[in-house]
Amino acid sequence: MLSWKTSRRVLLCVTGGIAAYKIPELVSRLRSRSCEVEIVLTKAAEAMVSPLVLGTLSGRRVWLQDDFFSSERGFEIPHICLAEWAEVVILAPCTANTAADLASGRGESLVSAIFLATRAPVLLFPAMNEHMYEHPATCQNLRLLEQRGVRIVEPEYGSLACGCEGKGRLPETSLILEEIAWALSPKRNLKGRRVLVTAGPTHEYLDPVRFLSNPSSGKMGLAMARTAWYRGAEVRLILGPVNTPGVLHGMEISFVVSALEMYEQVLDNLPWADCVVKAAAVGDYRAKARAEHKLKREKEETLSLSLAQNPDIAAEVGARKREDQLLIGFAAETNDLRENARSKMERKKLDAIIANDVLAPGCGFGSDTNEVRLIFRDGEASFSGSKEEVADAIWGSLTSRKML
Ligand code: PMT
Repeated sequence: MLSWKTSRRVLLCVTGGIAAYKIPELVSRLRSRSCEVEIVLTKAAEAMVSPLVLGTLSGRRVWLQDDFFSSERGFEIPHICLAEWAEVVILAPCTANTAADLASGRGESLVSAIFLATRAPVLLFPAMNEHMYEHPATCQNLRLLEQRGVRIVEPEYGSLACGCEGKGRLPETSLILEEIAWALSPKRNLKGRRVLVTAGPTHEYLDPVRFLSNPSSGKMGLAMARTAWYRGAEVRLILGPVNTPGVLHGMEISFVVSALEMYEQVLDNLPWADCVVKAAAVGDYRAKARAEHKLKREKEETLSLSLAQNPDIAAEVGARKREDQLLIGFAAETNDLRENARSKMERKKLDAIIANDVLAPGCGFGSDTNEVRLIFRDGEASFSGSKEEVADAIWGSLTSRKML
């Protein structure tokens, strides 16, 4: 999730679902990402989560239903002032009752009055018993709210507080944070664009338990995918085997292991894409023949492997792509950064290439930061920072050049 340079104003409305117990963690994580958080509790929510805890974590008073007519400096008419203060309004968890209230346009509760008065984007996270969620009345209310511009984030499937299993759980906090980052994203200039990203390493198996690979963590590619989604793009991610991919939200994901699998997935998705970003570190070679059983240690001190070349996926895309498709490559270099990257750009018919010196500290494989040179046929730009900041700057540069 991008961390913002200036603090952002999040209005969190908590309603009376048991999942309200997860909200203190959300508040604390929003605060650590430099958000100011105002919290409003419905009457039922007061029974689920302590205003004292929420007030301590947010560093502000918590607004209760009884405060509808109270007045405070800066918030003289609470429902109007809070509605205007917010850059984004979150309803989490949102009960069937509150959803019905909002859909009916009533303004009797502090939460529903804020909802009517705000012009900020609204994110609604329904969480309840599965049968309540599936009830036609709830479905209709949520559909109506969606038609009116509210973003409804579906609950997750799993065990519910009532003892049954079903779709009704409030999503994990990290997913809620992703949605908030999306809603607060200042630019939607990739709206309507389809972006295909490859990320991570490939594993080229020699036998059932050993493989050739590289230290790619997938973070750079995932940052490209996530920031494209923040900017409004539809995103598909083809992800090699990574250990801790983090939150994978807002995109369709295909998991692959080998370069050949990645090759197939990329070519299958190519007609769909407006832009292909090749951030994956693809193995150039695979075992000529994969052993059926684990290779045994032999008496000889050396072992020779016979390898076959993998297809160059980027070059294949470069050869096949339509005029209106954009192909962006990455170059992981250890020397002669610019020259090597430029020659890859020409050879693979890329529209631009992002060169990173993978030996420099805080750069390349595995790190959370990167320092890159974005090279076009007619110019260059340099960016450094967290991988998400770098990725966002790359999209900024591509869009300001009207390449996308
Ligand atoms: O994943 P992280 O830990 O965050 O690390 C990020 C990164 C270092 C992997 C990333 O920033 C990066 O540099 N990715 C490209 C790595 C790479 O394979 O570079 P290359 O110079 O070998 O290849 C050039 C381009 O051709 C790349 O776009 C690559 O995806 C593509 N390629 C390479 C070989 C191959 N067989 N098929 C390909 O498509």
